[in-house]
Amino acid sequence: MLSEDSFCDTPCIFTDVLRDIDTGLIILDTIGKKVFFKNAHAVKILEPLKAAQDYEGLSALLCNDLDPLQQPGRTRSRQTIIHYEHRVLGYTVYRIPEDKRHISIFIQDITDRHRLAAIDEATEMMNNIGCLFSGIRHEIGNPLNSIKMALAVLHSNITKYSPEEIDVYFNRISGELVKMETLLKSLKNFSMFETPRTSDIDLAMFFDNLMQLLGADIRAKKVEIQIDIAPEAKRIMVDPRALQHVTMNLFANAVDAMAETPNPRLLVRSQSRGNVILLSITDNGCGMSEELSRDVFKPFFTTKAHGTGLGLVISKKMLTQMHCGIELVSEKGIGTTFHLTLPKSATKIQRGEA
Ligand SMILES: Nc1ncnc2c1ncn2[C@@H]1O[C@H](COP(=O)(O)OP(=O)(O)OP(=O)(O)O)[C@@H](O)[C@H]1O
Ligand SMILES: [Mg+2]
Repeated sequence: MLSEDSFCDTPCIFTDVLRDIDTGLIILDTIGKKVFFKNAHAVKILEPLKAAQDYEGLSALLCNDLDPLQQPGRTRSRQTIIHYEHRVLGYTVYRIPEDKRHISIFIQDITDRHRLAAIDEATEMMNNIGCLFSGIRHEIGNPLNSIKMALAVLHSNITKYSPEEIDVYFNRISGELVKMETLLKSLKNFSMFETPRTSDIDLAMFFDNLMQLLGADIRAKKVEIQIDIAPEAKRIMVDPRALQHVTMNLFANAVDAMAETPNPRLLVRSQSRGNVILLSITDNGCGMSEELSRDVFKPFFTTKAHGTGLGLVISKKMLTQMHCGIELVSEKGIGTTFHLTLPKSATKIQRGEA
């Protein structure tokens, strides 16, 4: 087990390297409740954060979600990001399996990397707009051509065809018109809640109401639903209409994904993370390959016969307008979790999972 003495006894070379690296390293003694080690880079990075100098401040800021590290085989957390005064910090928490006492935190100033990622995202958005236009051309062009052809055939054969034959063509035309109508409806959703009207929402009440709307339908599909809203993670500032649209979309996707699952289960969980709430929606459906996971936010990307492939694009847009984030973790054959980061009602420091 690592102890203060054994740390000092470790060959000088390790201590010197750790003192001087340009990544911040903090080691907390969780039993003695003190800061065991902090290298110079960590001191520099955390200097402006007055509340994060001692053990209490550091553990409140960096260690409020260590649950995943208790799982067998897990020794590190996912990277988490914190925003403060125009800077962005990224950190990862590590635990040595045999050592129940200490946790190590590697922390870096990732402001520039974050800025570059934002530029990348903007470029990707422009590509997506291009994709959206070509998708619309395709989605409207196909039924339009099919209608034109059906009308041309009808026009030249109207006197020869029997009423039954004419009916086949009319049905085809109205089927194509329904496709165009569905697309137009989805595009209308695209510009819904353009100016979000955010208010203080209680997530527990929000899901109670949503379950009154959808619960019976979902349970009719034999899906077990578990909603777990932590008391300290329930007050958020969002537009409830937009959040309802988004959660309904995510539930619909989850239910579709669990169509072949023997014991389908939908789990909704909220956790406090600094001044944001992490809302996770997990299903044990078909899951996605890495490649598929990368495509799901692209306009018109769908694997469903009757999907528009706009559900997630529209959800992401609505969330972005409310300063919320959406990310997913999925494993083929195991299931999918969508993580939403939602601003708490009154906040100072903003944090979220990277
Ligand atoms: N929970 C999930 N599990 C597995 N795959 C998913 C999940 N959510 C989304 N997907 C994949 O992402 C694709 C895009 O989803 P999106 O909601 O944008 O469109 P869609 O569901 O296909 O169509 P629509 O929303 O119009 O019904 C889906 O077709 C599916 O392949
Ligand atoms: Mg969908």
